Order: sequence, then structure tokens, then C-alpha cells
Amino acid sequence: MTEQSTSELEIRKAVRDRYSKLATSESSDCCTGGSCDLVQIGGQIPVEASSVSAGCGSPLQLVTLKEGDSVVDLGSGGGIDIFRASQIIGESGKAIGVDATAEMIWRARDTAKKYGDKYRNVEFRLGEIEHLPVETNTIDYVISNCVINLSPDKLQVFRESYRVLKNNGVFAVADVTLQQEIPGDAKRDMDSWSACIAGALTDSEYTRLLQAAGFQNITIEHVSTTNIGDYPFPYYSSHIKATKII
Ligand SMILES: C[S@@+](CC[C@H](N)C(=O)[O-])C[C@H]1O[C@@H](n2cnc3c(N)ncnc32)[C@H](O)[C@@H]1O
Repeated sequence: MTEQSTSELEIRKAVRDRYSKLATSESSDCCTGGSCDLVQIGGQIPVEASSVSAGCGSPLQLVTLKEGDSVVDLGSGGGIDIFRASQIIGESGKAIGVDATAEMIWRARDTAKKYGDKYRNVEFRLGEIEHLPVETNTIDYVISNCVINLSPDKLQVFRESYRVLKNNGVFAVADVTLQQEIPGDAKRDMDSWSACIAGALTDSEYTRLLQAAGFQNITIEHVSTTNIGDYPFPYYSSHIKATKII
């Protein structure tokens, strides 16, 4: 096994371990342990979803969903943003949450089932955001809340997002970004990776990879700034938006 694939496996295992524990707890947690900057959009959401939320922003603040829209949430966790979106897009819309942690998917499905018909437009699919279980050119909005930093292959996540979006479809995510790259040793700290810090990209690298995947009109807005332990540079809770234009 190559060094690269070993560390990729380590990352995926550390992430799954952390979020399977969160899925079976009742502790809402900003991914970074820092400021969440969550804005309520879409009215009341189930407490079963909000009690395990682990986002770092509000991707739905970046877009104006309407009746009938289709939405995919990368790393949907307990489903907080999917349940929010569900109420706006209505019966004719579709909200699909994708997550690699089975316990998160089971919890989100249980929540949807508990509320019966209210969330009929919602579906939770077990899968990796690098290999989305979603058809090509079918989605209006790809959203995500504090997940892409956890991926060991971000270019593949952006390529997959681009693939599933329709022409003029929008990528709108909250994520952690860095002012400066984290030093090599710290980057290999699995606790820091699963806590959404070590895997984060700088703004310029984020932009470069989105462009490489084909996206246009890329914007990154810093919503809040937090210092990383003893390091002399901060990380940002950021809102990132880009469009697929063919
Ligand atoms: C920090 S939590 C955020 C959950 C949710 N978006 C929220 O705001 O509460 C990260 C979630 O992403 C999932 N995840 C991490 N890496 C993933 C990957 N490569 N593919 C699919 N899901 C992933 C984890 O299982 C976890 O549920």
C-alpha cells in the first residue's frame, strides 16, 4: 500500500470514528469547536437534527431556493440543512443528503420517518462525496456545511459537484479556510483533521481547485475568524459560492 493511500485511509477512518460517535450522542458541536455562525433559514427544524449539527456556517444563506428546486447536501450529518431546504422547495422539490457515516444516515432517516409526510421530499443516501450517488446534470444546488475540509481528495469532490449540477447550477457551501497552510506535522494530526482544521485549504487553493473542476464566478467570504492554538495565523469560517456554466 502506498504512503498516500495509507494516509487517505487513516483520514477516512478518523472522520468516520468521530462522526459515528457524534451521531449516537446528543451534543451539537461546531466542527472546529469555534464559532458556528449558524443562521436559521427555513423555519422550525427537527430537534433530532439540530442536536447533532456540526456545521460552521449557513450555506442556505447564500442562495434563494424556490419551490421545485433540487438540492444535494455533501456530508449531510443529522440532516439540519436538508430539513431546512425541504420546507422551502416543497413537495415538487427534492433534497438529497449524502454522508459516508452510516450512523449519521440512519439517524437522519429515522428523523425524517418520525415526522411522516412532512419530509416526503427528503432522501438520505450513504456514500462518499468524492463519488456522489447522484445522477449527472440533475441538481440545481449543491450545498455543504463544514465537510469538504474533511475530504482527502477535494478536487474529486469539486468535479463530482460539477458533474451532478445542471447548467447554471450553483455550488454554495460553508467551510473552513486558512490564511496560511498548516505546517506538515500538524497536517498529519488525525484529531485536528477530523476536527475540520488540518485538512482545510487556503482561499487561493480552494479557488484554484474549483476552477480546475470547471466552476466559474467563484467567491469566498469570511464570516468569522478564529486563531488556531499557538499558531500565528487564523482560520476562517467561510461562505463559498461558484456556478457551473457550460
Ligand atoms: C462536521 S460534520 C457536518 C455535518 C452537517 N453538514 C452539519 O452541518 O451538521 C461532517 C459530516 O461529513 C461527513 N463526511 C466527512 N467526510 C465525508 C466524505 N468524504 N464523504 C461523505 N461524507 C463525509 C461526516 O460523516 C459528517 O457527518
